[in-house]
Amino acid sequence: MPFYQRLGHVPPKRHTQFRDNGTLLTEEVMGLEGFVGNESILYHLQSPCRVQKLGEFEPIVRDEWVPETHAHRHFVTYGIDAGGDEVTGRRPLMWNGDVEISLCRPAETMDYFFRNGEGDEVIFVHEGSGTLETSFGEVPYREGDYVVVPRGTTYRFRAEGPQRHLVFETPGLIEIPRRYRNQYGQLLEGAPYYHRDIHPPTELHTHRERGEFPIKVRVRDGYQTYVVDYHPFDVVGWDGYLYPWTFSVHDFEPITGRIHQPPPSHQTFQGQNFVICSFCPRKLDFDPLAVPIPYHHSNLQSEEMIYYVSGNFGSRKGVDVGSITLHPSGLPHGPQPGLAEKSIGMHETSELAVMCDTFHPLKLSALAHELDDGKYAYSWYENATGGETGEPSADGDATGAGLTSHF
Ligand SMILES: [Fe+2]
Repeated sequence: MPFYQRLGHVPPKRHTQFRDNGTLLTEEVMGLEGFVGNESILYHLQSPCRVQKLGEFEPIVRDEWVPETHAHRHFVTYGIDAGGDEVTGRRPLMWNGDVEISLCRPAETMDYFFRNGEGDEVIFVHEGSGTLETSFGEVPYREGDYVVVPRGTTYRFRAEGPQRHLVFETPGLIEIPRRYRNQYGQLLEGAPYYHRDIHPPTELHTHRERGEFPIKVRVRDGYQTYVVDYHPFDVVGWDGYLYPWTFSVHDFEPITGRIHQPPPSHQTFQGQNFVICSFCPRKLDFDPLAVPIPYHHSNLQSEEMIYYVSGNFGSRKGVDVGSITLHPSGLPHGPQPGLAEKSIGMHETSELAVMCDTFHPLKLSALAHELDDGKYAYSWYENATGGETGEPSADGDATGAGLTSHF
């Protein structure tokens, strides 16, 4: 999506004869928005329609938790059990019609191929590294990467070491914010990242093996398995604008100001009725009278979830790596009592966090219920936090006291 790429061999003109050892290859135009959106053209050894056997269709079953109260919440996710693989191990935490947000700590290796036929994916790699093997070639990834996978990409994870992923799946498109690009698509001076920070597939290996290869395709809110008699990575070459890529959160250049910059300055991706933002270590507001943490704000038309990746928040009781806060629509939120005063004179923050703001309300899963600390809604209540400063009390009632200090 970010710019034109080509890997392997393609003929000089599209839609012309292209042969491999005398055999005419199958040309596949894989594109968006009815032939007027971004596309890539792939050349396959086999027809991508060739199916040996239709396997099972498994509908996706979501175990929804409808809380009895509408409140700010803090989910403690770091301790979740590992299970499944990088796809079957995705455990939805919250979702709406635009985006589904899951936690994933895979314990198994994928023994099949996967394709999301109804959504784009962003996989934030909190921990782990490896290679996403795809029909477009190899996409190496490591801790801190956002792995962006457009719908229709057949892939398989080859992980190296333990993994911890935060996964966004959307029926819409994942895009680089329009305001970061000029009319030709080039990233502007002033955008928080540049083309050099975007990493497309590195190597294309054309597989010629025959046998039985299961492909699981997410479609119609379920998973349909197909068995094909050829290795699905049978692409000889491709070119175009549509392919998987990575971008490291550590390459996001924070935008700071003399006074507080609003959350959109941290925007990394735009989706259908949602955004994904990166809060990275940065210098704080430098006006002598600046209050370096945010003003209170009301999410009148959006929900805000923040996933804590790393930083100095660990000094506060109850808040740790993997914490997620959810500030749902209709309620104001802001720093806990005393924190604004305390922030004055601060010059920098080392916090690293990923935020997703949605325009429409998020539903919660039974897993969210399990991980909900049940106390965060009271963290602005001074008597409950052990005094006017908002410092954690001995029993940790101020869970999350530092959590909103920079958002
Ligand atoms: Fe906020």
